[in-house]
Amino acid sequence: MNTVLQTKGLCKTYIVNKRQNNVLKNIDLTISEGEMVAIMGPSGSGKSTLLYCVSGMDRVTAGEVIFNGKETARLSDKSLSQLRLDEMGFIFQQMYMMKNLSVLDNIILPAVKSKRNTESRKATEERGRQLMRRLGIGDVGDNDINEVSGGQLQRACICRSMINSPKMIFADEPTGALNRSSSDEVMNELLSLNRDGTTIMCVTHDPKVAAKCSRILYIMDGGIMGEKEMGHFNGGDKELRDRERELNNWLMEQGW
Ligand SMILES: Nc1ncnc2c1ncn2[C@@H]1O[C@H](COP(=O)(O)OP(=O)(O)O)[C@@H](O)[C@H]1O
Ligand SMILES: [Mg+2]
Repeated sequence: MNTVLQTKGLCKTYIVNKRQNNVLKNIDLTISEGEMVAIMGPSGSGKSTLLYCVSGMDRVTAGEVIFNGKETARLSDKSLSQLRLDEMGFIFQQMYMMKNLSVLDNIILPAVKSKRNTESRKATEERGRQLMRRLGIGDVGDNDINEVSGGQLQRACICRSMINSPKMIFADEPTGALNRSSSDEVMNELLSLNRDGTTIMCVTHDPKVAAKCSRILYIMDGGIMGEKEMGHFNGGDKELRDRERELNNWLMEQGW
């Protein structure tokens, strides 16, 4: 399998009030095309920081991040934001959307902004509507973002993350603000995108979410303290229960 993302000796240090906080220390990580990787670990262990560093939302203090063959530290801010726009998709716990745009206009915004996109506005809108139908929110495109439920809004965020057909989606607690059934729906959508070939990295503190991922990384004290290869989840309640049990046992061994 091709490597999509690799880090070598990734370090991230924050300095607050002259005090150094070495949040990530020498992280070596390789993610192959088609993987669905969950990042777990205690609160404050650096999960979000890792996601931001590997996705070029934040600069690393030392080390390398190679995304799709490009060393991101060597890119200018402008090239890096272009790379993010064209080849990465983002989903967050807080569903950031522009309040003055409709749901559909929010979804297609990354395509409208991308220099790579040469299609007409109409064609982009049609693609946006197709994605919305696929995620079961086909009828709320013209709504304001405050006229849809949390689960619908998060599915709209998934549509937005997909609009430029990214190589990889980065999700930071994508189900953190959702109830169980919306969380399951959102995870099932991410699984289906993953089955279609999109590589996914997902920070989560929810073992039910992580149990659907193909590999789990456990972060603590600035490093990857544990790693569990689960294989792809093929669906089915029994398989899911077995995976959850296996994962919970493993998490306990990690000191979760
Ligand atoms: N922008 C920042 N400036 C300074 N310290 C930060 C910043 N972001 C995160 N941190 C610190 O880095 C550590 C890891 O934070 P974070 O990556 O958000 O953890 P997690 O997502 O695992 O809960 C925490 O100690 C946090 O206070
Ligand atoms: Mg976090």
